[in-house]
Amino acid sequence: MQYNVTVIGSGPGGYVAAIRCAQLGFKTAIIEKYDTLGGTCLNVGCIPSKALLDSSEHFINAKDHFKEHGIDIEPPRVNIKQMIKRKGDVVKQNVDGIAYLMKKNKIDVHIGVGSFIDKNTIKIIDKDGKESKITTEKVIIATGSKPTPLPFAAFDKKRIISSTEALELKEVPKHLIVIGGGVIGMELGSVYARLGAKVTVVEFLNSLIPTMDGTLGKELLKVTKKIGMEFFLGHKVTSLESKGKEVVLKAEDKSGKTIELKGDYCLVSIGRRPYTEGLGLDKIGIELDRGKIPVDDHLKTKVDNIYAIGDVVRGAMLAHKAEEEGVMVAEQMAGQKPHINYLLIPGVVYTWPEVASVGYTEEQLKENGRAYKTGSFPYKALGRARASMDVDGLVKILADKSTDEILGVHIIGARAADMIAAGVTAMEFRASAEDVSRISHAHPTYMEAVKEACLAATANRPIHM
Ligand code: FAD
Ligand code: NAI
Repeated sequence: MQYNVTVIGSGPGGYVAAIRCAQLGFKTAIIEKYDTLGGTCLNVGCIPSKALLDSSEHFINAKDHFKEHGIDIEPPRVNIKQMIKRKGDVVKQNVDGIAYLMKKNKIDVHIGVGSFIDKNTIKIIDKDGKESKITTEKVIIATGSKPTPLPFAAFDKKRIISSTEALELKEVPKHLIVIGGGVIGMELGSVYARLGAKVTVVEFLNSLIPTMDGTLGKELLKVTKKIGMEFFLGHKVTSLESKGKEVVLKAEDKSGKTIELKGDYCLVSIGRRPYTEGLGLDKIGIELDRGKIPVDDHLKTKVDNIYAIGDVVRGAMLAHKAEEEGVMVAEQMAGQKPHINYLLIPGVVYTWPEVASVGYTEEQLKENGRAYKTGSFPYKALGRARASMDVDGLVKILADKSTDEILGVHIIGARAADMIAAGVTAMEFRASAEDVSRISHAHPTYMEAVKEACLAATANRPIHM
């Protein structure tokens, strides 16, 4: 065999799997169809979206908050060309970093589309159509996902756009219509709202970020209305057309009442679907289950030497979930017994304030008939939050009614994305709310809200409220 392990796809699932395989002594290859490594996350996902979120946050702070801090400046203006260029530079640093890691770990990189000839042979076609073949003992499929289009309105990539184009706009839209009030809709919607666009979100369900705890969606609605975002919740889109420089959307609510919106761009962010086109799965007898590659608890497909990880299999479509799965598969191949606790994969939305969550939601606990108690604490009661003027948000803790074990941590507020790691750690070690409430938390910090919410859950006795 030429390789012990071949990884198809170089996103966070694939490149992490390849590195761990190489660390464990396997001769490893990675195949990527694009010229740069890093997949959706580094090229058109996590990293560029956070770069624009950060830039637009600086802008809105300079425009709306500097004055109160005692900093007088000329009214700032948006230079979208520079903002997009900086984002491109950030992406380049990150993708170059992955190329360096491949070299450092002596992983062979093959650029081209990989497809199965049989379970041990993979064909690679590069962009000039040149074909090569490699043989391999084991394969890890990590081909990721692509944006889902509306069934009745394809992406024209000019006016009806996905997140990929929304990260490359040459102008700030006058009116950006966003279909889907999930993670992408709220993150990229808030970028352009901060930069001065009118942003209208049309969401099918009655709440934003509907897979997260309901309290978070309600709070997010309030805070994003403050930056001017408008919402039509509980609305089903019935038509979407692009006419020259205009997009026209029609939608109706549950009672059949219709609305019509006109904008210059429409971001369709209604979820992503696994990507397996051109992989030749039929050659190895793998059939998809609702678009995903079926795997067992060890991420093995029905073919003994072939594994699949990340967005292309069941579970949350998150970079860190894909990474954990990459490590797990590599370690299993080396005879180790790794384990992933999927309940404790945190979810984050990088709006401002940020939203972060781990464990069960209150809705899930109700549905499961689990007896629970809650404790919450608002940011506005924190000295740290008042000092930075980031007073929007709250921490909500869910704990088992009799044992006090923490069952869920839900935060909306400044720095929530980093704070959630403490919630994950507490839950991984099966801490009770009282355990956390008795740990010293530095003052003044945002984390004090977690301690106070735990005090509220344990004995209804927060100190500062
Ligand atoms: P991908 O990253 O999709 O990588 C798959 C790779 O496989 C691609 O490079 C593709 O070109 C390649 N490929 C596919 N087929 C072939 C083939 N036949 N031959 C060769 N190569 C092939 N997640 C987070 O956790 N945090 C975030 O902040 C976050 N932000 C996001 C923002 C946006 C706008 C988007 C769109 C997504 C975001 N995500 C975020 C989700 C995250 O990007 C994905 O969950 C993650 O990239 C999945 O990793 P993966 O390795 O499974 O697949
Ligand atoms: P999503 O699943 O987060 O949200 C889609 C939203 O669209 C849902 O609220 C859904 O109810 C709504 N919807 C579906 N069909 C609709 C329709 N026809 N009309 C109106 N609304 C409709 O999907 P999204 O935002 O596209 O993101 C895809 C995935 O990418 C996420 O699920 C997440 O896994 C990943 N991602 C993660 C990020 C992060 O971790 N910060 C950031 C961005 C993306």
